[in-house]
Amino acid sequence: MKKKSDLMDFQGKKVVITGVAGFIGSNLADKLLELGAEVIGIDNFLTGRKENLSKAFKAPKFKFYSGDIRDLDFLLDIFQDIDVIFHQAAFTSVPQSIKMPDSCNDINVNGILNILNASRKRDIEKIVFASSAAIYGDDPNLPKKEDMRCLPISPYGVSKLAGEAYMQSYHHVYGLKTTTLRYFNVFGPRQKDSPYSGVIAIWLGKIVRNEDLLIFGDGTQSRDFIYVKDIINANLLASEIKNSGDVFNIGLGFPISLNAIAELLLKITNKNNLKIQYAEQRIGDILHSYCDNNKAKEILGFIPKYNHEEGLKDYFKYFVDK
Ligand code: UD1
Repeated sequence: MKKKSDLMDFQGKKVVITGVAGFIGSNLADKLLELGAEVIGIDNFLTGRKENLSKAFKAPKFKFYSGDIRDLDFLLDIFQDIDVIFHQAAFTSVPQSIKMPDSCNDINVNGILNILNASRKRDIEKIVFASSAAIYGDDPNLPKKEDMRCLPISPYGVSKLAGEAYMQSYHHVYGLKTTTLRYFNVFGPRQKDSPYSGVIAIWLGKIVRNEDLLIFGDGTQSRDFIYVKDIINANLLASEIKNSGDVFNIGLGFPISLNAIAELLLKITNKNNLKIQYAEQRIGDILHSYCDNNKAKEILGFIPKYNHEEGLKDYFKYFVDK
């Protein structure tokens, strides 16, 4: 059966993607271009990479502007006759936010405030914001539901929660049509293999170099890993819903321990010669993250297509084909 998002048509729509050269932004650009949208991408290349846009650059309906979301004039120039803004640009690393809380706040909080101010001035129809499950923090109640209290631990979690609060405020006070997606742990093609990247990208990099995997802590901590293609579908669906001002959890709805996903990755890649090493738990890490995605299922029509194994296999295939 076809998913609702497979049947969507973006012909005649003009959208902006912030952070378009990043992991999620570039995947979203490719999909929207495929669906007929005119895509305007912006990025400052702080963490994004030009090579992520090699497919998009070939599309006639893609325009790219190099610049910073903290520059209001830059945004005002670009935000002309736009139907949807997909705000993906972000400071994304939890441990790095502990080292650089000011930069994290500047990019994630001042950044979204600028996006909202520019959107308000330019009467933008709709804004979809990439928030994070990190806003829930370590409240032991699981799975996480949208109406649970938010107790972020890391500066990163705090900055995303502030972004959400600004989205709500601008919806209520100025009538902006906003939708917030709380991403759980996203993985997939184009995620960087760097010390500040997501764990699966780091591990795949190690596997390709024939190195052992490293787990911080005893590996019993769990995450709700979700494949990037499902995240892209959630964004498409969110851009189309009529009611605004809402927040949705976007995760698979099945947590898995770090030990179990490491084993699964070694099995899929046929690297049973590699071992799992352990190091001290990371400061600021939450222990368990598990998504209740029923609200997204009911209201957005969001149905994740990839389970852990299917997502990892598809991701590994991309590595092999590259
Ligand atoms: C991730 C995302 C964050 C997102 C959040 C949503 C990144 C870099 N972070 O944060 O943007 O908002 O999910 O829930 O994409 N780990 C290891 N070995 C490693 C690296 C990490 O064991 O080599 C462990 C960490 O200690 C942690 C778990 O893996 O327990 C996940 O870490 P990470 O991939 O960095 O993601 P989050 O911190 O959950």
